[in-house]
Amino acid sequence: MAQAKIEITNDGPYLVSGGLPLSQEQMVTVGDHREMRPGRTFEVEDSYALCRCGHSKNMPFCDGSHLSADFEGAETASHQPFAERAEHFEGPTLSLEDDERCAFARFCHRAGSEVWSLTERAQDAETREEAMKAAYECPAGRLQHHDKENGDKLVEPELSPRIDLLEDPEKSCSGPIYVQGGVELVGADGEAYEQRNRYALCRCGHSDNKPFCDAMHVSVGYSDQLDQ
Ligand code: FES
Repeated sequence: MAQAKIEITNDGPYLVSGGLPLSQEQMVTVGDHREMRPGRTFEVEDSYALCRCGHSKNMPFCDGSHLSADFEGAETASHQPFAERAEHFEGPTLSLEDDERCAFARFCHRAGSEVWSLTERAQDAETREEAMKAAYECPAGRLQHHDKENGDKLVEPELSPRIDLLEDPEKSCSGPIYVQGGVELVGADGEAYEQRNRYALCRCGHSDNKPFCDAMHVSVGYSDQLDQ
């Protein structure tokens, strides 16, 4: 099987190749934190085209509607590597990097606190665990820890390559495309973005930081209509 890849097309869909599994996930609040709940799974071929304009009548796949919708999909996001763009915060046992690429999934809110404050207070095992989850469960890949108690090792979950279409029932909207497992992402100009374990792509068509999600789906109340 070819290596999994997503290629962005000019004012058109994401071309996915390499047999990436495609499912829905519902983001829900459970007690003091957020969790993913499995939704539909889609039958896909080795290659398929995912809508990124928000107008397809055959969601989540492109049906050519971007043409009649006059979709403008110009990429505005930086190609600079995460480490060069991110702000750096030091805690007693963890350091945190934050590139502010927020998809408003709210996984950074945990245990009545937020990842920044948890990192500052991460002395005991329980707070460290909560802090790390608050970062590595973020589907946007905005947050990343290094563990000072473990040779400054990067804290990242093992994710196999797959795509999840996120739903946010509490905000009554559909969220971004959550890409996992280091899937290559290539811009419409042929230039690759940094390969990352987690990232969230815009699928409502409204992000000001294309191709990445910037939470505009919440403001515009985007829904893919799949569950209606
Ligand atoms: S990108 Fe083709 S229909 Fe949305």
